[in-house]
Amino acid sequence: MSKPKLLIARAIFPEVIQKLEQYFEVETNQPDEPFSGTQLIQKLQGKSAALTTGGDRIDAEVLAACSSLKVCANMAVGYNNFDLDAMTAAGVLATNTPDVLTETTADFGFALLMATARRITESEHFLRAGKWGKWSFDMFAGSDIHGSTLGILGMGRIGQGIAKRGALGFGMKVIYHNRSRLDAAQEAECKASYVSKEELLRSADHLVLVLPYSPASHHSIGATELALMKPTATLINIARGGIVDDAALAQALRDRRIAAAGLDVFEGEPRVHADLLTVPNVVLTPHIASASVPTRKAMAHLAADNLIAFFKDNKALTPLNPAALAAK
Ligand code: GLV
Repeated sequence: MSKPKLLIARAIFPEVIQKLEQYFEVETNQPDEPFSGTQLIQKLQGKSAALTTGGDRIDAEVLAACSSLKVCANMAVGYNNFDLDAMTAAGVLATNTPDVLTETTADFGFALLMATARRITESEHFLRAGKWGKWSFDMFAGSDIHGSTLGILGMGRIGQGIAKRGALGFGMKVIYHNRSRLDAAQEAECKASYVSKEELLRSADHLVLVLPYSPASHHSIGATELALMKPTATLINIARGGIVDDAALAQALRDRRIAAAGLDVFEGEPRVHADLLTVPNVVLTPHIASASVPTRKAMAHLAADNLIAFFKDNKALTPLNPAALAAK
């Protein structure tokens, strides 16, 4: 029997390609040039399966043009590149990579918070530029992390990981806001208190965004929300571009309406709003929160294992729309 055809849309670990080749006729993209929408449709012709990343959009148009497609495994926990309703309607199974990246991403959220609050990259640029002539009492004085109030917007697995790091490691007071409140045991484990979004904005010394992107969370942080924050506050976004209004944030940073921001994700990335590139009080990283080698391997293997489980046993390890499985 011939093997089902699989497109791996972006470059991936060779060991994962070898594993998939046992089950699939694989087309790869090791040169790693992202496909345009039209190229993706063309590459998916005759394919039953796709291994995608967050930049590969699977929507109603793609599905209508790729009728052989049965399953898409996203190598990311976020899946706003999938139109899940359209995939379910087309009977296409979608999977993501939760859990395996939780701790690595929470580590990074904390690293970005520390770099931002303590002005690490700004001071490094100063030093590299040969500007360090003398010590001064207020040189790159930032804000404290220990003992401060950590606010978390979006309290899923990664948010809880950040809460634990803050409460247990740095003696922070942790407050959070989320669509649904955690149960009492989870709140106790994270030492986190539930507050309204307004209270979160007003009280946090450091506000970390870890909520999923959807039309409902678009510009959750804009000029109005930034105006409620403390002028000494830092804002960290490791969630998705579009959750923050980047133009409004650049203006707030320039006007020192908040002290600093740390951003791993951007509206329209890999483009970055030009104003963010010119303000000094922002730490910018290129969407690398889950990028440790072991975690990226675990994500790639989980995506591959979802595809294999689907074709071997008509099941998936981490399905997003199990209704598509049930319809098989
Ligand atoms: C990365 O952004 C992910 O969603 O895994």
